[in-house]
Amino acid sequence: MKNIRNFCIIAHIDHGKSTLADRLLEHTKTINERQMQAQVLDDMDLEREKGITIKSHAIQMDYELNGEKYTLNLIDTPGHVDFSYEVSRALAACEGALLLVDAAQGIQAQTISNLYLALDNDLEIIPVINKIDMDGAMIEVVKDQIIELIGVKEEEILLASGKTGIGIEEILQAIVARIPAPKGEPDAPLQALIFDSVFNSFRGIIAYFRVFNGKIKKGDKVRFVNTGEDYEADEVGILKLGLQARSEVNTGDVGYIITGIKNAKEVKVGDTITLSQNPCKVAIQGFEEVKPMVFAGIFPVVTEDFEELRDCMDKLQLNDASLTFETETSQALGFGFRCGFLGMLHMEIIQERLEREFKQTVITTVPNVSFIAYTTRDEKVIVNNPSEMPDPSKIDRIEEPFIRAQIITSPDYIGNIMTLCLGKRGMLINQSYLTPTRVELIFEMPLAEIVFDFYDKLKSSTRGYASFDYHPLDYRISDIVRMDILLNGDKVDALSALIHRSRAEDFGRKLCLKLKELLPRQQFMIAIQAAVGSKIIARETISAMRKDVTAKCYGGDISRKRKLLEKQKEGKKRMRQIGNVEVPQEAFLAVLKLN
Ligand code: GTP
Repeated sequence: MKNIRNFCIIAHIDHGKSTLADRLLEHTKTINERQMQAQVLDDMDLEREKGITIKSHAIQMDYELNGEKYTLNLIDTPGHVDFSYEVSRALAACEGALLLVDAAQGIQAQTISNLYLALDNDLEIIPVINKIDMDGAMIEVVKDQIIELIGVKEEEILLASGKTGIGIEEILQAIVARIPAPKGEPDAPLQALIFDSVFNSFRGIIAYFRVFNGKIKKGDKVRFVNTGEDYEADEVGILKLGLQARSEVNTGDVGYIITGIKNAKEVKVGDTITLSQNPCKVAIQGFEEVKPMVFAGIFPVVTEDFEELRDCMDKLQLNDASLTFETETSQALGFGFRCGFLGMLHMEIIQERLEREFKQTVITTVPNVSFIAYTTRDEKVIVNNPSEMPDPSKIDRIEEPFIRAQIITSPDYIGNIMTLCLGKRGMLINQSYLTPTRVELIFEMPLAEIVFDFYDKLKSSTRGYASFDYHPLDYRISDIVRMDILLNGDKVDALSALIHRSRAEDFGRKLCLKLKELLPRQQFMIAIQAAVGSKIIARETISAMRKDVTAKCYGGDISRKRKLLEKQKEGKKRMRQIGNVEVPQEAFLAVLKLN
C-alpha cells in the first residue's frame, strides 16, 4: 500500500489534461506508440469531437523510482459543470491532484472551482503550468496567480508541456514524493467507493471503485450500501489499457467489478461496496442521488416511430443512469418523452447519441428547469413541464432554482458582464482581484437564465476573455408564468414555456417573429399569438398566399421545378398539423434559435 498513489488531473477545459495524461501513460510504458491514439482516455467518439471528457475513467501505471516500484492510479475527471457530482466522487477516490494551468491562459473559472472541490476532499495539490512550449506562455504571470491562489512556494510549481514532453518525469517524481500513500485497514470489513461506471454490451455494467478498507475478492458476495442490493463479484480486477482480471483488489487500490448488473440505475456513483456477510459500519460520506436539472420533451419526427424511440431511450438509460424520462403526450407532437438532463450539454449529448448511435431523428422541445409550485392549499407540485403548472388561480407561490455563478475575466469587461448578468436577474455577490489584470465575479442567478444562451452571450460580450462555472444553490420564490403560443387560436402545447413574468413579453414577441419566419405561408391568413393566461402579449400575422412553390422558378427549367416539388413533398412529411395550420419541424426548435 505504501507504494500506491491515487491521483487525478484537474484543469479548466482545454488546458491540456488529456494530452498530458497521454504523455504520462507513454512515459510509464502503460501504452506503447502503436496503441497510442490521439487521446486514449477520451474513448467515446462524441467526447473526442466535443473535446471534453464526459465520463471519468481510471488507468493504472507502473513507475520505478530509485529502484522502488510504484503503482500510480490516474483517475480521470469529467471537465464540464453538468458533471460536477461525478468530479467530486472521482476526487474523493484520490489522495492528490495535479492542478493543470495553461501557461497562455492562466487560471480560469474551472481551475478554481475544481481546486475547491479538491481541497474539500483534502487532496494534496501539485500545481503544474502546462503548454510552456507555446509562444504566448506567460510562465511568470501564471506562477504569481498560482502562488496567490493556493499559497504554494514558487519552487513547488512544476513546468510542463504535454506536447513536447517537457516536465513529465518531474511530474511523476512529484506524484510519488508529494502525494500521500493511501491509508486504510486491510483487515477491516470491505469499504469501497464507486466513482464511476460504464456500460459494456457483453459484460453489463462495470463499476469502478477505490478500496478504502478491506479487500474485494472474485466470488465475494457484495452489497451496494445505498441501493441495498446484494450481488456476486463475478469478476474483479485492475484497470490498465483494458480490464485485467485479478483474484482480489486490496486496500488503497483502484479496480473494477462486474456483477452481471445490466442496468446503470442499479450502480450509483458515490455508493459504497461492502461484503454482504461482514458489512462495514458506515457508508462512505458524500453520496447523493444525481438530480436532473433541465427538462425537455423528446418526440419522434414520425409519430409511428414512438415505440422504436422508447426502445432506444431504454437502451440509452441502461448506460446513462443520469438520464430520466417518462412518457409525455403532446397535442402537437403526439407521443414522446419528458426527459431530465444534468444540464444543457448532457441534453445535447443525449440528442446526438440518439441520432448517431440509434439513428433516430427527434424533435426536442423548449428546455426548462424544474420549478416548485405551492398551491393555495399548500400542496407542493414539482413542475418539470409547462403542462404541469397548476391553474394560476390555485397557485400561492412558485420557486425556481438558483445557482452561484463564478466568472473570471479581465477588468476591461466588468461593465459588460454586469450588464449581462443583471439583465439575467443576477445579483453580484462578490468581486475580487486575483491579480491586477484578472478579476473574479460571483453572481447568484436563476438557473433558468443560464440554460439557453448565457454562455454564448458571455463569450461575445467579453470577446472570449471570460471563463464561467456554476453550482446549484437553492430554490427561491419567483414570479414564473406559463407563456403559450397560439396559431389561429389553437394552442401549440409543444411551444409553451415557463418564464419569469418580466421576460414574457419580450420573449413572446421574439418567438412570434421567429415563427413568422419559419411557418410557410398558407392559403389563408395565420395569426401567431403569444399569451399568458388569457392575455395576449404579442402577435404576428402571416398573410395568405397561393401555395405554388414553382412560382419561384423563372419559367423553363423543368428539372429544377421537379426538384422543388420533391422537396415540397419531403417537407410535407415533416409537417405537423395544429388546427388548420401546418407547422414544420423546425418551428418547434424556434425557441432555441432566438437571440
Ligand atoms: P478537455 O478534456 O476538453 O478539458 O480538454 P483537455 O484539458 O483534455 O485538453 P486537451 O489535452 O484536449 O488539449 C486541448 C488543446 O491544447 C489541444 O488542441 C491540444 O493539442 C493542445 N495542447 C495540449 N497540451 C499542449 C501543450 O503542452 N502545448 C501546446 N502547444 N498545445 C497543447
